Amino acid sequence: MDSIGKEQQNAEKLAAAIEAVKFIKDGDVVGLGTGSTATFAIQELAKRIKTGLKITAAASSIKTEELAIAAGIPILKLENLGSIDISIDGADEFTESLDLIKGGGGALFREKIIASLSKNAIIITDSSKKVKLLGAFKVPIEVVPLAYQYVFNKIETLGGAGKLRNKDNQKFITDNGNYIIDADFGLIDNPEKLSSQLNEIDGLLAHGLFIGLTAKVIMAKGNEILTFNSF
Ligand code: 5RP
Repeated sequence: MDSIGKEQQNAEKLAAAIEAVKFIKDGDVVGLGTGSTATFAIQELAKRIKTGLKITAAASSIKTEELAIAAGIPILKLENLGSIDISIDGADEFTESLDLIKGGGGALFREKIIASLSKNAIIITDSSKKVKLLGAFKVPIEVVPLAYQYVFNKIETLGGAGKLRNKDNQKFITDNGNYIIDADFGLIDNPEKLSSQLNEIDGLLAHGLFIGLTAKVIMAKGNEILTFNSF
């Protein structure tokens, strides 16, 4: 991961967001991600709606839903949607093969549902998010509270070191009422295998490895826009 200054990082997030929002067209059902980069996309989408674009949207978190409603974006309930035309979300890390780590903001479960429902799942990032191997960023894992110890042990048997996420000295609670374990697996040689192993654990609602879910990553780097496609 390259380290860049905050100002440049924000300029790159905005540039990637502007580029991605160009892909949205009239009539689309749009999946809205969570986090600072996705917020730039929500603001750009709101601008296009003000100049006549007609879309509906579904949010990946309560925070995003509130932002979208305040910006005048019509929101549908995710539970009623069988498919989404296009989604735009951020990521914590991505590789050129379009594997991701997501969930830094704790919205990974709904983000994964949105990505899975999307015909065109677009990820937008600044240049600090591109890595050769995933894993410097710990893998967020959403766990049903009563299964916390069990999942914690299972993560250890897979070679990971888990840490319960806290916020303001309290356990971090997701929008779904669950805990997050941030799991350090070191650099991950085979993210697909680890994803399948994690999927086997009872009580684990979702993990932040997004494998084969992304159609396109749009990354801004300085004044350049780089696009990585899945095919
Ligand atoms: C939230 C996410 C975010 O997309 C990810 O954490 C990136 O956030 P940001 O755009 O603020 O860097 O997965 O759960």
